[in-house]
Amino acid sequence: MEIATSLLKNIARKYGTPTYVYDLDRIKHQYQLFCEAFPWPTLRVCYAMKANYNHSILTTLKNLGAGIDAVSPGDLHMALSCGFNPSDIIYTANNITDAEMDEVMAEGVLMNIDSLSRLERYAKKYPNTPVCLRFNPGVVDGEHDKIKTGGDLTKFGILLEDVDKVKTIICNNGLKVTGLHEHTGSGLIKPDSILTAMERIMSIATRKNFPDLTFLDFGGGFKVPYGPDETQVDYKQMGIRIMERFSRFTRTYGRQLGIWFEPGKYLTAQAGQLLVKVNTIKHNRNRTICGTDSGFPQLIRPMFYDAHHTIKNISNPKGKPFVYDICGNICETGDLFAKDRSLPEIRENDILSIKDAGAYCYAMGGTYNLRPMPGEVIVENQKASLSRKRLTSRQLIDLIRRESFDITDADD
Ligand code: LLP
Repeated sequence: MEIATSLLKNIARKYGTPTYVYDLDRIKHQYQLFCEAFPWPTLRVCYAMKANYNHSILTTLKNLGAGIDAVSPGDLHMALSCGFNPSDIIYTANNITDAEMDEVMAEGVLMNIDSLSRLERYAKKYPNTPVCLRFNPGVVDGEHDKIKTGGDLTKFGILLEDVDKVKTIICNNGLKVTGLHEHTGSGLIKPDSILTAMERIMSIATRKNFPDLTFLDFGGGFKVPYGPDETQVDYKQMGIRIMERFSRFTRTYGRQLGIWFEPGKYLTAQAGQLLVKVNTIKHNRNRTICGTDSGFPQLIRPMFYDAHHTIKNISNPKGKPFVYDICGNICETGDLFAKDRSLPEIRENDILSIKDAGAYCYAMGGTYNLRPMPGEVIVENQKASLSRKRLTSRQLIDLIRRESFDITDADD
């Protein structure tokens, strides 16, 4: 069930704008749908917390039994502080330092290594330990070039053809490869790319190469519909094929293995929206510009990936439609949430809701132009509560000044 418009209006009134609103019930629903689509007895859903690290969302997913895909020390410490156990977390960072590796290992978290160079350094420092290896499946897919992670042109994963080099390092140092991993891209649009990537990983996941496997991790990338022409992929149908293929694989491998996935968007994208307020309507010859109190540093997907986000005028849903450029308050021409978008008449002071903003929106945000990030409100059982407050400009500046001027001798 969608959050009632009256509640959204109340949230905008009570907490001001811009404000992100997250529907925890929708996240629970998405998690349940995901588990139903992949009914494997040892399914593990490691939420890709890079999509949205809001603590209420993390706690909700933890209570449902999810694990975590962490990609930075910040992710790791945030997940631990929300109560995830180290054994619930897989650490899949790219281009890390030795210090970062040590920080992760000190927490007892499984490292997922994505280069031969890092594997060698890991093996020297942590011989005879369990480890997961990220391979590049060589499958190219994703809803935008910037977020395709498989294939020769990306920086991710160990090449499949390097499996013998991997084995040498493993054998020389007594490492136990307990998992193999791949992630093809975000918003996978080709119907067979998940299965093809799985085939590639399963082709190297033999007893001879890796006798200690306990799981295979096929990453995230499960697409959600953003634009009006996009429909929801039938993951239940796809799940049947994936379960059947994985089951066959485990019989060949000779042992029951876990299947892991790392959805981000699928769990949170549709559960979020950004409420913004219109402050200026400007008629520039044949363009009508609708100016709002947010901007691209607070929701960058349209500007960065040409992503479509549905926008609703919740103050005037039945108004006569006109065509608008929905803009932000940042000093850049590209600061647009939507171009040439037909919406019910927008008046100054109307509240707009930018939909499907629960993944990679707040999380990719920043304070460019020194505008504080929006607040975050969660809704559960149609009840709203503040999850994170929006700083005032003065508070933001105080924070920055503290970061810049409280430098002790020890930091030199
Ligand atoms: N696992 C790994 C190793 C990943 O790199 C990612 C996403 C995921 C899982 C989760 O992918 P998802 O299920 O959310 O598609 N900022 C972009 C998406 C970047 C995804 C980065 N990696 C966007 O807004 O579309």
